Amino acid sequence: MARIVAGIGSSHVPAIGAAIDNGKTEEPYWKRVFSGFEKSQEWMRETKPDVAIIVYNDHASAFSVDLIPTFALGCAAEFPPADEGWGPRPVPVVQGYPALASHIAQSVILDEFDLTICNKMAVDHGMTVPMNLLFGKVDKDSHWPCPVIPLAVNVVMYPPPTGHRCFMLGRAIRKAVESYPEDLKVVIFGTGGLSHQISGPRAGLINSKWDKAFLDNLSKDPQKLVKIPHVDYMREAGAEGIEMVMWLIMRGALDDKVDEVYRFYTVPASNTAVGHIILENHRRGAKAAGKHKPAAAKHKRAAARAKVHRIRS
Ligand SMILES: [Fe+2]
Repeated sequence: MARIVAGIGSSHVPAIGAAIDNGKTEEPYWKRVFSGFEKSQEWMRETKPDVAIIVYNDHASAFSVDLIPTFALGCAAEFPPADEGWGPRPVPVVQGYPALASHIAQSVILDEFDLTICNKMAVDHGMTVPMNLLFGKVDKDSHWPCPVIPLAVNVVMYPPPTGHRCFMLGRAIRKAVESYPEDLKVVIFGTGGLSHQISGPRAGLINSKWDKAFLDNLSKDPQKLVKIPHVDYMREAGAEGIEMVMWLIMRGALDDKVDEVYRFYTVPASNTAVGHIILENHRRGAKAAGKHKPAAAKHKRAAARAKVHRIRS
């Protein structure tokens, strides 16, 4: 059966994508950001997921004020990069996984989560920037390392879903994945945030204390996070800090207890706090899904789990 082995949280700052696309990753300002994802890329190469579910928000690229789905699941065979005003990013078209996506849609809707099903959808930096951060730079004419099921969440127009609703949707996605008969290793991303505000008198707001507490609780006590009302995100983490509710879908899809295998936090990238975390399901789950891995890789992963890397600045 299919199984979710790990969750990845990552900011999706558009300027990070521009730095990659314009060859600026070695500049000191950007190297500070990209160096924090080197271990993550190593982890991803070792984990080799069969499919990734990526929770992100569309930034008026595929949708607009004409159409605002709260949760939109991509069931298409492919998803082209969106034109965000400067032409599409020079990244490959994202391959989907229609069979699993349709299975998730059916399971989750029958569990009373009313998803919008998207059979045609362009994807913007909200999804492709975290893909670059975890998979590395991929040539436009090449292929991403695994297929992706996009899940777009409305956090742009009021009202976004609550943190509790997001967490419970994660639970339903996990149930859906585990009832899919094919033997697949699945990872799930939650993207966006961390604290930032783009406009208004508080533009540039960053709250590192809030961000770090969010990461701590995401790892150890997510039930504290599901109770946070929207207004607290706005007050403490800035207007765009509300994107952090999407990380709760990822967390809801994992075990109650997880192993935090990596964390990175730095300020700023553009005008945003960059946060990143990798959480693995407990050995029992990861082991079952990784049963075909060579022994050397298993030992390496065990060593990686034993050492929690924390980089804070
Ligand atoms: Fe965003």
